[in-house]
This record gives sequence, structure tokens and C-alpha cells, in this order.
Amino acid sequence: MNTRCLSDTVDLGEWRLRNRFAATAHGTGAVVHGAPSDHDIRYWEGVARGGAALIVLGGGALGPTGIRQANRTEVWRAEAVPAMRDRARAISRHGALPFLQLTDLGRETLGTETFYATRSSSDRRSPREAVSPVPMSDSDLEDLIASHLRAGRNALAAEHVGVELHAAHGYLLGQMLSPHVTGSAARLSVMRSVVRQIVNELRRMGLGVGIRLSVGDTSDSGLDISMLGETLDELSDLLTYVNVTVGMRGAYVRDMSTERPPLLDLIPLVREACPLPLIVSHAFRDREDMEDAVVAGADLVGLARPLIAEPQLPNLLLADREDDVRPCVSCNEDCRSFLPSLLCSVNPDLAPFGEAARPGSPWVIRPSTKPARSVSIIGAGPAGLEAAISLRSAGRDVTVYDARDHIGGALAMAASVPHRAGWRRLLDYYRNQLERLDVEVRLGQRVAGEDVAEADAVILAGGSEEAPAPPGCMNLTEALLAGPESFSNCPSVTVVDDGFGWWPSTNVVEMLFDAGVKQVTFASPSTSFWAGIPAESRVQLMSRLRGRGLRLLAATTFVNEVTGASLCNLLGAEFTPLDGEPVIVASERRSVPLIDVPSGPSVHVIGDAVQPRKVAHAITEGRRAAELLRAVK
Ligand SMILES: Cc1cc2nc3c(=O)[nH]c(=O)nc-3n(C[C@H](O)[C@H](O)[C@H](O)COP(=O)(O)O)c2cc1C
Ligand code: SF4
Repeated sequence: MNTRCLSDTVDLGEWRLRNRFAATAHGTGAVVHGAPSDHDIRYWEGVARGGAALIVLGGGALGPTGIRQANRTEVWRAEAVPAMRDRARAISRHGALPFLQLTDLGRETLGTETFYATRSSSDRRSPREAVSPVPMSDSDLEDLIASHLRAGRNALAAEHVGVELHAAHGYLLGQMLSPHVTGSAARLSVMRSVVRQIVNELRRMGLGVGIRLSVGDTSDSGLDISMLGETLDELSDLLTYVNVTVGMRGAYVRDMSTERPPLLDLIPLVREACPLPLIVSHAFRDREDMEDAVVAGADLVGLARPLIAEPQLPNLLLADREDDVRPCVSCNEDCRSFLPSLLCSVNPDLAPFGEAARPGSPWVIRPSTKPARSVSIIGAGPAGLEAAISLRSAGRDVTVYDARDHIGGALAMAASVPHRAGWRRLLDYYRNQLERLDVEVRLGQRVAGEDVAEADAVILAGGSEEAPAPPGCMNLTEALLAGPESFSNCPSVTVVDDGFGWWPSTNVVEMLFDAGVKQVTFASPSTSFWAGIPAESRVQLMSRLRGRGLRLLAATTFVNEVTGASLCNLLGAEFTPLDGEPVIVASERRSVPLIDVPSGPSVHVIGDAVQPRKVAHAITEGRRAAELLRAVK
């Protein structure tokens, strides 16, 4: 029986790793003049302290032509070396191995402005670009080798153990190693020998060299398993490790619709093709999947977002404290927006660059003037739950009330929708924490101000409600509460968005298709659809909706004054009567009316009860309310 487990040490060439957790490349964007800032260094120190054994630092640009964003680490510049060294030392000090990823996008721009013409191994156009790249000349290839060597020297001077070559997700080295992009066998052989030369020279400097490759998407620039084997045949005698992942630029960071690590079942095949220390990454969330990956042949499990949500994840799992891991829900809402720097919707400890904490504050109705030994929290949504566990951890007596018979508030409704399983993880986390901390939770109880007048502090976290729909229609909440069964006999349904392109109306559309509805007409007063959801999730959503009978109507809204219930095209002012089929209209979300709390306790309002917004606001305000109360001695 194979007994490999996550706590085992593993050797990467001459380096011994303390366990099987690798932080795959990501970045904070907290960069000053191309060099890591103190904020960035503190972040990575936290990840190393959390127990990851190998840390691959992302966002490292090989040269000015490669990545065009301003917040890249400019690895090619000697001026960046001192701060890079501080960062590598901070990582090593906590027992992790620092590797620096080297990146050139080649033919990809992703719609950002460019200073230089893009180049690639051939002139084959990327499916994400409007024009073809310039095929690399011999001189370009020499420059590419030279830029890797310059970056390698800087990485070494900055005390990194090694570098990771980025050949995944359609980046330049991936383009070069892809038969589809590079074209002829002769040209492919030249490209492979260039990559081999780069690896060889970097190894001769004394650096470890890993490579990141994407499996799948062979008609883009990914590799199938046999191509992976062929590619590695030519490099494996030199490489320190291979990091195998999935996906192409534009949609490669999977959202919560991916519930199982996409490579988990392929690991035995990948293992066979790969005679090297192997990192398998993407969408690992559960300990069981991570253990299965190691047993199936992965030497390391690669994690990025789970460590953004909970840097202590490796230590907690190794200490059998899985329930204490604050889970990444794969929402991609904060971490993939890069505004203004790395943030996380579920982790209020992660501050924007330049701030000590994530900004957010409760609405103070009556300030706290005495220590809050007993706290009543009205509302068991994410805001109330975050406040509850934070106060209870500080030893306060906490009672949470909710009129519903379950915790979660609006989050529970979102979690019930197809492809939104991530939210269930967050609810499970809060449920486990309430139990562990022995928080008193009274469900099914509508509370009046007098009921909580004896507490030292009251937190109002009652959330928000959707305004009623026009007569004869349902609003989104009513449709979701009615559930898929109510629509299973409807051949067609119309959903009218509010034009902000946010998840709630999309939730209803996905529920309707899962219920068996053959045609959904989705109308929006805006000229674009789903503008409010993260770009990568939009691509994944569209691939789920493809071929399912969705009819999109832009610049169209619902009216029922003159013509009866109709869709109105805002540009042509044409009216199309709606008769016969159910109509679901997104209506404004409004904070629930606040209850009047008699004088005595302090009163703070948090989350949607202040103003309906996102989960991230609710969690942050829950935490900040608890901190305010804890601060009063
Ligand atoms: C904020 C952020 C930045 C990232 N930057 C990089 C990068 O610079 N290079 C890279 O290869 N992958 C990058 N990734 C992708 C991650 O390494 C990882 O493959 C992806 O998030 C999926 O794995 P996960 O489910 O463990 O998060 C980034 C991901 C995130 C969330
Ligand atoms: S923002 Fe969402 S996807 Fe990103 S790390 Fe946090 S929970 Fe995960």
C-alpha cells in the first residue's frame, strides 16, 4: 500500500522540503519601482510561516517587453535585487524554499496597451488577440536566452534557490513548446533546444530550475500527455521539478463551478510522463483531494488561492485542524481584480497596499462605552457570523439570533444555486467555528429591541431584502425560493436584469436551465452582459451556457404601464408583449429596517443591513465591529 502523506519530506534535487505543500506562483502587486515592497515581503513571510515548503514567487517579468502591467517585479533590473533578496530571506528564515517565476507573455496582451510588438515562435494568432504576433528571429531567440540568464543572475544574487520557467497558460515558452503554435517539427526542435539551453545555463549557475506546463487545450498552446512526455524527455535530465496545471490565459483561474481539481484523475498518467519531482496544482481545496494527489504520484500539491485565504493552511492541516482553515471559495472576486493590490473576499486580514488592515467599519448607532461582555447579534449572515466568532474567540458571551431556521442569510441562498458550491464551504467553516467556540445560536427567532436590551452590546446584521417585483412577476429571491421544481414544466422563462450584470440574475438563469427550461430570454437595460462578475468567471459562465437555449436582449427592459407586461427595447422604443410565460425581474436590494434597541447596550450595524453589497464587505465589517467592541476595556 502507498503510504505517502502530506507531512512527508520530499527532495527537490539537492534541496529537502519539509512537507508536500507548494505555493504556486501569484503576486501581491505591491511593488515599488519594479521591486517588492515591505507589504509584499510581509505577505510572503506570512505564507512561509504558514508552513508551505516551496514558494514560487509570481509576477516576475523577464524584461520590459514581456508583461506590461505596472505592478510586475522587474527581475531584469539590478535595482530590484536588494528588495528581492529581503523577500527571499524572509521566506528562507521560516523554512520554505524561495523560487522565482520568470515570465514573458509572448503573443498575449489580454487587451492591455503595449509598448512593443508581440512576438512568438510563429505568426499564429492567439485566439485572444486581434492581430498576429511577429515570429521570433534568431536574434530574438538569443535575446530571450540572454534575458533568462540576466534574470537568473539577479535571482541568484537575491538568494533564491531557483527559478520557475513559465511555459503554461499560453505564455511565451508555452507557445514555443506547443506543436500547434510553433508549427513544423523542425521549428519545434529549434524551440525545444532554446529552452534546453536556457535550463542548462541556469543550472550551471547553481540555480534549481522548475518548469510550469499546462495540460490540455492542445488547439491553443497546451500539451496533451504524450506531448508533455516528449517535451520532458528533452529536459528532464536538467530540470529540478515540473509543475503541471491546466488552462489558458483569460480563464485559467477556475471559479467555484470547478468543484474537483481538474488534474486529480490524470495524475497517474502525468506521473508516467514525468520522471521528475512533480507538482500538481489547480483547485485543490479539500485535504482528502490533496492526500489522494500525493498517493496517486504527485510529489507536491500546488496551492495559490487557498493560501491567500488562509496562509496557515499547511500548518493547520498538518495539525489535523482542517475545520479551522478559512476556505478559499474560488469566487475570484477580490484576488483576481488586482485592485489596488492582492485582496481576498473571505480574508479580512489581507490589507490593500499601504494600509494596515482591510478598510471597512460598522455604522455606529450608539457607541460602546463599557466593556462588551455579552453581545447579541441579530442576523446570522456572514457579517453576523464573522462578528460572532471573532468576539467569542476573545471570550465574550455571544448570542446570535436569526428569524430563519438556518444560518447564512443571503449567502445560504447563493450557496443553493448550481455551480456556487464555494459558498457552502464558507458556511461550513462558520458552522464549525460556531460549534467549536460554543456560540449560542437561536434560529427561527424574530427578535425585538426589548429582547436584547440586557446585553452590553447589540450588533444589527439583519441583511437586506429584494424589493417586490412588478405585479404578475417574481423577483429573483422569490424565484430562487420557489426552486427549480416550480419551473420544470415551463418551456420558456424571461429574466430581466437590472443592468448591473451581477451574479443574482445569473443565479436564476442557471437554476432555470438546471430545472429543464428550454429557453431563457435574458434582457438587460445595459449594452453588455455580466459586466459585474469577474472576467474569468464570465468566460466560464459562457461556456456553461453555450447551447442551452439562452436568448440575450441588450438595451432592453421590463415595462408594464402602457402596453401591459412587455419588454421594451430602449434604443428603438419597441414593445414586445409578454404573455403566457413566467417573468422574473431583478429588483433593488434594500437593507432590512433596523429594530429599535432601548437605551442601554451599544448598537452597531454591519454588512447588508448598512447597505447591500458583497460578502467581502459583510465579513470585513463583522470583524471590525468585533474589534471595536474588543477595544473597549
Ligand atoms: C492573484 C493571483 C495571481 C496569480 N499570478 C500568477 C503568476 O504570476 N504566475 C502563474 O503562473 N500563475 C499565477 N496565478 C495562478 C496560480 O498560481 C494558480 O495556478 C491558480 O490560482 C489556480 O490554483 P488555485 O486553485 O490553487 O488557486 C495567480 C493566481 C492568483 C489568484
Ligand atoms: S478572493 Fe475568492 S477566490 Fe480569491 S482567494 Fe479569496 S476566496 Fe479565494
